[in-house]
Amino acid sequence: MRTRPADPIQEEESRVTTYNLRKAAADKVRADAVVVGVVQSGGSPAAAPGAEAVAAAYGSLGPLLASIGFTGKAGEVAKVPTAGKLRSPLLVLVGLGPREKLTHEGVRRGAGAAARSLTNAASVALALPAHDAEHIRAVAEGYLLGSYTFTAFKTNGSAPTGPGEVVILTEAARTGQARAALEAAEVVAGATMLARDWVNTPAGDLTPAKFADAVTAARKNHNGGKVSIKVLDETALEAAGYGGILGVGRGSANPPRLVRLTYKPRGAKKHLALVGKGITYDSGGLSIKTAAGMTTMKCDMSGAAAVLAATFAIARLGLDVAVTTYAPMAENMPSGSATRPGDVLTMYGGQTVEVLNTDAEGRLVLADALVTATEHKPDVVVDVATLTGACVIALGDRVGGVLGNDDELVDQVTAAGDRAGEAMWPLPITEEMTEKVRTASKVADLMQHNPDRWGGTLFAAAFLQEFVGKHRWAHLDIAGPAFNEKGAHGYTTVGGTGFAVGTLVELARELAG
Ligand code: BES
Ligand code: MN
Ligand code: ZN
Repeated sequence: MRTRPADPIQEEESRVTTYNLRKAAADKVRADAVVVGVVQSGGSPAAAPGAEAVAAAYGSLGPLLASIGFTGKAGEVAKVPTAGKLRSPLLVLVGLGPREKLTHEGVRRGAGAAARSLTNAASVALALPAHDAEHIRAVAEGYLLGSYTFTAFKTNGSAPTGPGEVVILTEAARTGQARAALEAAEVVAGATMLARDWVNTPAGDLTPAKFADAVTAARKNHNGGKVSIKVLDETALEAAGYGGILGVGRGSANPPRLVRLTYKPRGAKKHLALVGKGITYDSGGLSIKTAAGMTTMKCDMSGAAAVLAATFAIARLGLDVAVTTYAPMAENMPSGSATRPGDVLTMYGGQTVEVLNTDAEGRLVLADALVTATEHKPDVVVDVATLTGACVIALGDRVGGVLGNDDELVDQVTAAGDRAGEAMWPLPITEEMTEKVRTASKVADLMQHNPDRWGGTLFAAAFLQEFVGKHRWAHLDIAGPAFNEKGAHGYTTVGGTGFAVGTLVELARELAG
């Protein structure tokens, strides 16, 4: 049985499920459950690649599927006792949707749905489409992510009971590419789950100081010493003039932090700088949110969680790209010491900003971090943030917004998201928004907040743009997809999703060449 420490600062539980590759027939393999895919073919359900041996053992899957009304629609799952037809007692059918539209992402989602339905099998064999390395990776990632649970704060009854062994059945089992694909899946899914753990940890248990400690602890388990860490506390932030981070954090009894991770492999030709919004709780500050508006605001450090976890994954994979990652961490609270609407902050680097709405805090901590990040002249800068409710209005809760000052980079990030199964869509930074940021304040250099609420995502990005100079920069607004408030689907569990980890690893892979 898996156990998790009650203290979330400790590294997340040691996941005791082992994943293996095997070249074996699905009807002969001995496991508590065998999982096969079902596709829709010309309107009727049919065995997906990987399910051939099981279909043959039944003569045909047709009558069985018809008798239980299984259609093969994506997300559909059914469990059938095998009554001696297979060596395993339970057959799990997973719908993968139309045959001609089957993608890696479809397989990943199917594996995730299977994982969520199998909560008490001690061993599972996956006979899903896994004929090549990319499909093996999709099956493994989907199953790993779909098995995710967060039980650190449950005192009884719901300790996770995942299987001891998951076997992926594939012809390619003994190839080096297959083994590498499985390992990559474990690294990337592991990082995604680390980000989920941090996001799901209640804000009272993940103050800026505790978050920084948790990153320090995770570093030991996730990168084999290849990443160095530096944490600036409130005294160091004060001394260096981080006015944005301090201005946001000053209303809270829990002082802010700035965490920096550095991964510098020998011979790396490209340097990627990552920045992630780490608001451990967003009450709105003096511009306070409604009660309903703040219930999920422990998720406001999802950008920081994603860039930090992705950095560990990039290092573990040994990708040939230098990465410097900055996570500004602060708690946005109202109090007698909080920043007031109308106050002027002097940001790191010297630009002054008039604060008009203390609930637009993310751009303030990001601005400081972006200036620091560009000091070392990186080739590419990417920031990730749960920045605006407007982005959720525009794109819904499953698509992230991508903005920036370089169309090619915006396209690269969108394409990386596509490969990772994380949907992104480009939005523009218009000249009028840039103009407003620069001219609307009568007392400071820049205006932090646009009283005209339309296009709030664009204005926020236009503000950030003032802090990146001429560097190639992309901004990911993940306010929608970072946190799943609704039901689980595919490999996306409820709560923190770890969105953007996969995209950042894919982008790093591309930069590494
Ligand atoms: N953290 C919020 C944005 C957010 C909203 C994240 C919903 C996740 C889900 C951000 O700090 C915020 O409060 N933004 C304001 C900006 C406004 C005051 C210009 C918003 O979107 O309302
Ligand atoms: Mn806010
Ligand atoms: Zn926020």
